Amino acid sequence: VEETYIMIKPDGVQRGLVGEIISRFEKKGFKLTGLKLFQCPKELAEEHYKDLQSKSFFPKLIDYITSGPVVCMAWEGIGVVASARKLIGATNPLNAEPGTIRGDLAVQTGRNVVHGSDSPDNGKREIALWFREGELCSWTPVQEPWLVE
Ligand code: GTP
Ligand code: MG
Repeated sequence: VEETYIMIKPDGVQRGLVGEIISRFEKKGFKLTGLKLFQCPKELAEEHYKDLQSKSFFPKLIDYITSGPVVCMAWEGIGVVASARKLIGATNPLNAEPGTIRGDLAVQTGRNVVHGSDSPDNGKREIALWFREGELCSWTPVQEPWLVE
């Protein structure tokens, strides 16, 4: 089944938005399979964002992601990767639609409160990067038959 890596960035934690952001994915009907508060080491941030290595903002991005604890999450569900990206909204929060997390809760690209994997392959790659095997839970929510026919 499809899975995605969602991360509340340090600004989301500092601004007290953890519960609000987790709620959006819970209410939508996705299944949480991993969750932890974590101070990200520089090497891991660099590996996670390695595709952006050549960008001028890369050093600032690494400073941002390592500036305080993040909340790491694994979420599972049908179409969860694309749907989570829609719930999160555009990279620049000023272009993000109202109703999306970034559209409702942020004003700048460099402080856009949350990360979401951009493909199912990257979802798997990022979950493996941020979690150890024993940190993930396989479980069946009681609401499942009421979400999926
Ligand atoms: P993520 O879900 O975090 O991967 O965001 P995204 O997929 O919407 O955007 P992308 O992968 O292109 O960029 C990753 C992150 O780098 C963004 O979410 C921003 O935090 C940061 N970023 C991207 N572009 C800029 C920029 O022009 N300036 C700054 N300061 N940060 C940027
Ligand atoms: Mg991205």
